[in-house]
Amino acid sequence: MLNQMRVKLALYFMCLVLVLHLIGATAFYVLFSASLVRSNQSLLSDLASEIRPSIKIENGVPTLRDWAKRAKEANSMVTATVQLFDKDKRLLEKYGDQGIDRLGRGRLEERERSSIKKVRSVNELIKTAGKESGYLQVQVSTIKNDEACELAIYATIVAMPFLGALVAVAGYIFSGIALKPAEQAMQLTRRFVADAGHELNTPIAIIEASLEALGEILKENNVKEDLTEIIAKASARMSELASDLIFLARVENPISHYVMAPVSVKKLLEDVCDDFNTLAKSRDIHFKLGAVSELEVMGNLEFLRRMVTNLASNALRYTDAGGSIILWSEVEGRNLAIKVSDTGIGIPPESIDHVFDRFYRVDKARARAAGGAGLGLSIVKAVVESHKGNITVTSEVGRGSTFKVTIPLA
Ligand SMILES: Nc1ncnc2c1ncn2[C@@H]1O[C@H](COP(=O)(O)OP(=O)(O)OP(=O)(O)O)[C@@H](O)[C@H]1O
Ligand SMILES: [Mg+2]
Repeated sequence: MLNQMRVKLALYFMCLVLVLHLIGATAFYVLFSASLVRSNQSLLSDLASEIRPSIKIENGVPTLRDWAKRAKEANSMVTATVQLFDKDKRLLEKYGDQGIDRLGRGRLEERERSSIKKVRSVNELIKTAGKESGYLQVQVSTIKNDEACELAIYATIVAMPFLGALVAVAGYIFSGIALKPAEQAMQLTRRFVADAGHELNTPIAIIEASLEALGEILKENNVKEDLTEIIAKASARMSELASDLIFLARVENPISHYVMAPVSVKKLLEDVCDDFNTLAKSRDIHFKLGAVSELEVMGNLEFLRRMVTNLASNALRYTDAGGSIILWSEVEGRNLAIKVSDTGIGIPPESIDHVFDRFYRVDKARARAAGGAGLGLSIVKAVVESHKGNITVTSEVGRGSTFKVTIPLA
């Protein structure tokens, strides 16, 4: 159970870190691309303001020929593309080859056969003596920036599985350290339960021995006393409770080693059916074996037997005369499903989740009268968990219940 908790914690931790990673990466991407846009935009505006005074108007048409000549002589050609358009937006001059030959602002894109041009563009109206004579446009390619952004996205995606695995492993290790005190506390409780069970055995043995002696004394003196029978019954129940506690502590202890071997569930169900048949008949309950799979499960025979016995004894205990009980098994994928169905009193929906709790009984009076302490299903659940199986209940009040246990096949 603790291991399951560690795995769960590690998975939660991994999900949390991956979500944070995605949020962080998205925020980084948005800020990074916004800052690239801003820096390009200011670069282009600065360049445009720098070039504007060099524009000459010849016959009402703007030209940058002198500027281009000077720039070439000074070997200071900029990486941007500079274009001049007339007032009807027709291209007049172009310096640089990355640009797109149309007037536009912001992000522009143009496909040319196999290649693609992506630019950021800034333009402004050229006015001389209050007369519009054309447009100055400056563009810079954004392909490199786009590649940098794409790289950032790829890096984020590629990093995810590595990050996830790393965090899961770290989460598993750290949750193990964090849960150590809880594990120790659980171990202590288990030991306490086992010790309490063992300690109860001594006084019970004394009561039983004394009761036997007392019975003989009464018999010798020809005294008939019903109290001895009551004490004997109570002592038997205490003895059962003690052995249930010891058994539960044994099954729940992760460090106790028990033999696991292939177990024939068919044989097991047949044996349990034989054990219960006489008792069922005496109570006028039809107890039968349904279809059973021949396949074996990997398990501990003693534990599995106790599990089926507890389920069958519950079915018998909570079914009235005239009812029927059926045990059967079938293969479900890689598991074997063992089912115990009865036509008994059923379990109310609000109690279904609690029936596996220790000492929980739906109808305390009925359970106590029948001799139940409320540990039977706790033992069943512990056995199922020690076999890496699963248990579910479906029940309807007044109609009956079905307990289904699934255990991996051998
Ligand atoms: N087949 C069933 N039909 C109806 N109610 C059931 C059935 N099995 C269990 N329950 C309910 O679940 C409770 C818990 O069952 P559990 O086997 O743990 O305890 P118990 O049978 O009362 O006592 P114990 O098994 O320790 O002798 C029972 O008291 C009963 O109310
Ligand atoms: Mg029971």
